[in-house]
Amino acid sequence: MSNQRLFNVAVVGATGAVGEQILHLLESRNFPIKQLKLLSSARSAGKIITFKGQEHTVEEATPDSFKGIEIALFSAGGDVTKALAPHAVEHGAVCIDNTNAFRMDENTPLVVPEVNLEKISEHKGIIANPNCSTIQMVAALKPLQDRYGIARIIVSTYQAVSGAGSLAIDELLRQTTASLNGEEVNPAILPVGSLPVKHQIAFNAIPQIDKFQDNGYTLEEMKMVRETKKIMGDESIQVTATCVRIPVVYGHSESVYVELKNDYDLEEVKQLLADAPGVTLVDDPANQQYPLATEAAGKPDVFVGRLRRDLGFERGLNMWIVSDNLLKGAAWNAVQIAEHISKG
Ligand SMILES: NC(=O)c1ccc[n+]([C@@H]2O[C@H](COP(=O)([O-])OP(=O)(O)OC[C@H]3O[C@@H](n4cnc5c(N)ncnc54)[C@H](OP(=O)(O)O)[C@@H]3O)[C@@H](O)[C@H]2O)c1
Repeated sequence: MSNQRLFNVAVVGATGAVGEQILHLLESRNFPIKQLKLLSSARSAGKIITFKGQEHTVEEATPDSFKGIEIALFSAGGDVTKALAPHAVEHGAVCIDNTNAFRMDENTPLVVPEVNLEKISEHKGIIANPNCSTIQMVAALKPLQDRYGIARIIVSTYQAVSGAGSLAIDELLRQTTASLNGEEVNPAILPVGSLPVKHQIAFNAIPQIDKFQDNGYTLEEMKMVRETKKIMGDESIQVTATCVRIPVVYGHSESVYVELKNDYDLEEVKQLLADAPGVTLVDDPANQQYPLATEAAGKPDVFVGRLRRDLGFERGLNMWIVSDNLLKGAAWNAVQIAEHISKG
């Protein structure tokens, strides 16, 4: 008989795009679960979800939902985390949170296991999962930071609609069909911002992800700036970001220009990335092989390619980084952290 410790686990936001992937991973990785509690808003309470062949009824998340829970995975928006995670912690749970609620809190570790796994042990009940576009970038840049040091990053993103939740996926599919049939597109969801103004996403590119800040950047762009410094443990790294939503369902792509502190050898960079945990190098221009969202979707890794030296600045390097935003960008990163906790 196995002596493996089993855990009471809650998934908050179990009916959402990220929650669905968390459940797939907990099942496929055979996570050591004693009791599983599936939580959502009142809208989905009563819905039945099958996990490992057993039917579970989704319940409305309340402060009392966490009695006896040991690990709580949150992906139900920042307000829900702010309202409920402190109750979960009071009940003794470790919370792994996919939202923006506690990421920059100084008492909350912001963790990408391939980059700063050691920070997990500093938690005081909550561990934050970084923003999806930040996770895939830092996972690919970590080996370069360790070997050469990083001075500056300029990133432009091409982000999938699933990053804005299941309603945004429906919106892209609906608009695409309407547009092809010559019907009204009627934008209702994107961009997710502070104004009621909405834009078409089908056959378009929207240079706004999340609300605009006073400095002219969007919140998504500022998340990339702040979170990169915190995860990489270096406030001196200069980061500037432009985040764009494109009509792709799964998989964020990023054009990343990085200035290294020391001279580099391009072949060595390729080898470092080929050897990096959780990173797959796809860089064969002669055969037109490079990372693609369609290839990355459904896979846990971060894919890197199109590596080339800047033509003007010797220590400048261009890269193309692609990953499934719902997996490494959210659910897989969270489950990796949960697995680490489960192993003590
Ligand atoms: N999508 C990504 O790539 C990604 C990546 C990283 C982080 N995140 C973050 O993860 C969170 C969820 O994203 P998502 O894409 O999964 O969104 P989603 O598809 O819209 O799902 C939202 C989930 O939250 C639940 N929820 C909403 N309001 C609630 C409330 N008041 N109480 C309890 N549960 C509530 C929903 O339940 P109902 O079914 O009842 O509505 C649903 O299960 C967001 O904070 C997002 O920023 C997303």
